Amino acid sequence: MKKGPKLIIKNLSLSFEESIIRKISLDVNEGEIVSIIGPSGCGKSTLFNVISGILKQDDGVIKIDGLEEKQRQGKFGYMFQEPLLFPWLKVLDNIMLGFEIKGLEKNQVKIEALDLLKKFNLFEYSNFYPNNLSGGMKQKVALLRTIAFNSNILLLDEPFGSLDAITRSSLHLYLLEIWKKLKLSIIFTTHDIREAIFLSDRVYVLSKKPANVVDCIKINLPRPRKIADLTSPKFVEMEKKLMSLL
Ligand SMILES: Nc1ncnc2c1ncn2[C@@H]1O[C@H](COP(=O)(O)OP(=O)(O)OP(=O)(O)O)[C@@H](O)[C@H]1O
Ligand SMILES: [Mg+2]
Repeated sequence: MKKGPKLIIKNLSLSFEESIIRKISLDVNEGEIVSIIGPSGCGKSTLFNVISGILKQDDGVIKIDGLEEKQRQGKFGYMFQEPLLFPWLKVLDNIMLGFEIKGLEKNQVKIEALDLLKKFNLFEYSNFYPNNLSGGMKQKVALLRTIAFNSNILLLDEPFGSLDAITRSSLHLYLLEIWKKLKLSIIFTTHDIREAIFLSDRVYVLSKKPANVVDCIKINLPRPRKIADLTSPKFVEMEKKLMSLL
């Protein structure tokens, strides 16, 4: 029997004084990377706050593994748009915190944190404070801490938005390596069409506020993705298509 999507969102709506999210439906399959692109201020971060249970929707249903989940706090690994590493904690302690909040047993926390740092090439930075790391390195640590907390489904809100193009490109490869090794399911928001295409299996395009799904494009590029893909005719064609939708 075919397994259903990992995450199903149906007719999600939320208003503050005005309507912000209007009847958004989307789904994410197990092991899939799905991007959400949309104009600044359209409601992407708000959508993540609703999905993760920080905000409560006015309407709509969210299902994880086929079951409706009304209490969703702690069920996602959520990397916020604003960097949230604690500057007074070393890299290792920042990662340990993820496992601690998750509720892992005390003596297991350090073992798991060191293991994660080793597995994804950050072990040598264990004793650095975040302020002594480059911007790209900080985002790598923040990503690992998010995974330490919960790797069931990751919500990554413009995680590379503040980085220069070269660093960003190396972080893309880093994320794809983690995704492949840990078989993650990921939703990712970005303004950057090329980033969305390069990383994703599918890209949802949102309208301006109130956010609504305009279209969903399947990215038919083979994996593993390579930097050379960025200039392939297929890539450029999808870029044009997405640009016309925004
Ligand atoms: N707590 C709140 N109360 C009232 N309005 C809010 C609240 N949070 C967000 N908004 C409004 O919701 C809209 C969407 O904001 P949101 O941060 O979700 O956009 P975004 O798509 O993530 O933007 P960006 O791409 O710049 O990060 C904005 O108009 C914002 O002012
Ligand atoms: Mg945002």
